[in-house]
Amino acid sequence: MSERIIAIDGPAGSGKTTTAREVAARLGFVHLDSGALYRALTLAVLDHQVPLVGERIVALARSLPVRLVLAGRSFVPEVAGADVSEAIRSERVTARVSEVAALAEVREWVNQQLRLAVGEAVEGVVVDGRDIGTVVFPEAPLKVYLTASEEERAQRRLSQMGRRVDPEAVGRTSAELSRRDLMDSSRAVAPLKPAPDAVVLDTTGLTFGEQVERVLELARKVF
Ligand code: CDP
Repeated sequence: MSERIIAIDGPAGSGKTTTAREVAARLGFVHLDSGALYRALTLAVLDHQVPLVGERIVALARSLPVRLVLAGRSFVPEVAGADVSEAIRSERVTARVSEVAALAEVREWVNQQLRLAVGEAVEGVVVDGRDIGTVVFPEAPLKVYLTASEEERAQRRLSQMGRRVDPEAVGRTSAELSRRDLMDSSRAVAPLKPAPDAVVLDTTGLTFGEQVERVLELARKVF
């Protein structure tokens, strides 16, 4: 299966998830958002008040269970059988997810789930995250690392959430993104960084359509 994987990594707000979803739709591939699984785990940890200890979190994930369920062309995050697609985008989850994602046992469990999930997506799969090209699927034939200036990423995140894009909100969101980027890129296990053979795409100033088109051009050369 590993011959039909596109890995898209990058910092918060770089548009990985929306780009991955659209690229997958255009290629007839399935979309797999790895961040959704870290977020679903974080939601479960907060709701069940489990301490931030890797084994405890993995045990909780198995017992509830926390899962990604293939529905059509994408995977839906579920906690105890309930679709948590909306709940995992809440600010309380966003504020804590990087702490959960820094735990080695948690990452190992998530990576197992991602590899199993890819096995179900026979058409091909676009996987987005932080360590997909470096750790989870280093054999993926196409790896893209999306970046954009911090200001632009903050503006995109605000528009995506339907919030007003005023200077004060941009400042606050950009501080939140950089706090998470710092945690994600400085952690000991699987830090955020481009794979040596990733194509780095700076999307500052590109429209969403242009960004998708650039990734599709790269994909057409490979698949
Ligand atoms: O969409 P956004 O960029 O805000 O983040 P996300 O993809 O939903 O991921 C949320 C968090 O999960 C990240 O800030 C990372 O801490 C963690 N994550 C990770 O460590 N490795 C991944 N492959 C995906 C997400």
